[in-house]
Amino acid sequence: MSHTGRAQLLVASNRGPLTIHAGPDGDDEVSRGGGGLVSGMQSALAATPDAVWVCAALNGRERAIARQTAGHISELRIVDEALQGDFDVHMLPIDAATFRGAYDGIANSTLWFVLHQLYDLSQAPAFDASWRRQWAAYVRYNEAFAHALAREAAPGAAVMVQDYHLFLVPAMLRELRPDLRIGHFTHTPWVTPEYFSTLPDDICVALVEGLAAADVIGLHTERWVELFRATARHVLGRELETVHAFPLGTDSGEMTKLAGRRDVVNASRVLDGVVGDALVIGRVDRTELSKNVVRGLLAYRELLRTRPEWRGRVVHAVYDNPSREDLPAYREYTASIERLASAIDDEFATDDWSPVLVEIVDDYPAALAALLRSDVVLINSVRDGMNLVVLEALTISDRSPAIVLSRETGAAEVLGDDALLVNPFDVSATAHALHDALLMELDERVARAERMRAAAVRLPPTEWFQAQLAALPPG
Ligand code: G6P
Repeated sequence: MSHTGRAQLLVASNRGPLTIHAGPDGDDEVSRGGGGLVSGMQSALAATPDAVWVCAALNGRERAIARQTAGHISELRIVDEALQGDFDVHMLPIDAATFRGAYDGIANSTLWFVLHQLYDLSQAPAFDASWRRQWAAYVRYNEAFAHALAREAAPGAAVMVQDYHLFLVPAMLRELRPDLRIGHFTHTPWVTPEYFSTLPDDICVALVEGLAAADVIGLHTERWVELFRATARHVLGRELETVHAFPLGTDSGEMTKLAGRRDVVNASRVLDGVVGDALVIGRVDRTELSKNVVRGLLAYRELLRTRPEWRGRVVHAVYDNPSREDLPAYREYTASIERLASAIDDEFATDDWSPVLVEIVDDYPAALAALLRSDVVLINSVRDGMNLVVLEALTISDRSPAIVLSRETGAAEVLGDDALLVNPFDVSATAHALHDALLMELDERVARAERMRAAAVRLPPTEWFQAQLAALPPG
């Protein structure tokens, strides 16, 4: 392959910084992508000129636009105006069937489930012939990225590949372009070798070999690094020396700017009107199985049942950004959140008090307003690579919220015991922690929040990204 590419720095991820979709009047609309990867990478690249971000077209409209512009969608005015930063976006028009097999089938229904331990093992997984067809799509999808990166990269360029959608890219790219310096970062947790080995043996080898070809393999915490190393020993029978923890933090300047925007101020006013002077237990997530919103609601119900003194004085505000709605498991999960919330309402609501407020909507200003108004922030994920929301809540809030946090999150390693750490499966312990958080004296809340805030901003996105670049071999 000839090395005619010009880019010195490339990032690759399934989801790019922006999503394009048809608005109500048929015109194209651009919105910001959800999730930790996009928010971290977006701020990291805003400060890094001349980078290229290679991503996939995620819907039919994006595929059409990507084809028309030969992938160079930043040439479109609406995209250029919405991008924060000087980087180019190259969107790959991967065909719909390949994309569905790779994204819905392998990335979201297999790898995400393995890495977050979401399988009900009595029923799933079952790796059959139809799963193998999805795997073939995942291989083609990874090849499309590897070829695009190989074409665009200048000699010796740095390529930073993101997440479980692209586990095979480092090895494919190394083969095509041995001159490149390749990093890979996994934004999810990692699991024990035994759990990882629910995947077919040849697939375990392909995935770990795919990653092992990178010069630097990054995960958020030492815990995930150790588990990845153990998996590599188990699967490949050798030690990988290139695995390091880069715990992504938040950018307090950027977050404070966002929190001060007029639309957030307006949303705050609306929320104040709804909750009055009640204490607020807030949470913001995607409608995502790993976020454990249902057990959070069960814990809140148990709190109201066992500690009646809180009735009428607390509101649980749940803001969920709809996610992966093509997958039936996600749609069912969202419905179960709504069902349980309305059961809690039926059980406890009075004429002048609604115990729970559930908003399932893509409304970033309203979500920030909820975090700003929270006295207690509840994040009880089953498992979570980091959970940036809790770090963001700490940096924007001037209420010094108490934090009830799953010990299975990367954020637990960053924030430590200043958060009230809980076992995410123990509903009663979570109810107890909510009670303790609501009762926490203000000076204690302030002292804990101050220490946690310092920890949350220790490695903001720009530094996080630079640290990974610095760990690559010299260019
Ligand atoms: C997590 C993943 C990201 C992903 C995000 C949103 O944070 O680590 O790779 O972009 O979820 O999920 P989605 O499937 O909507 O991109």
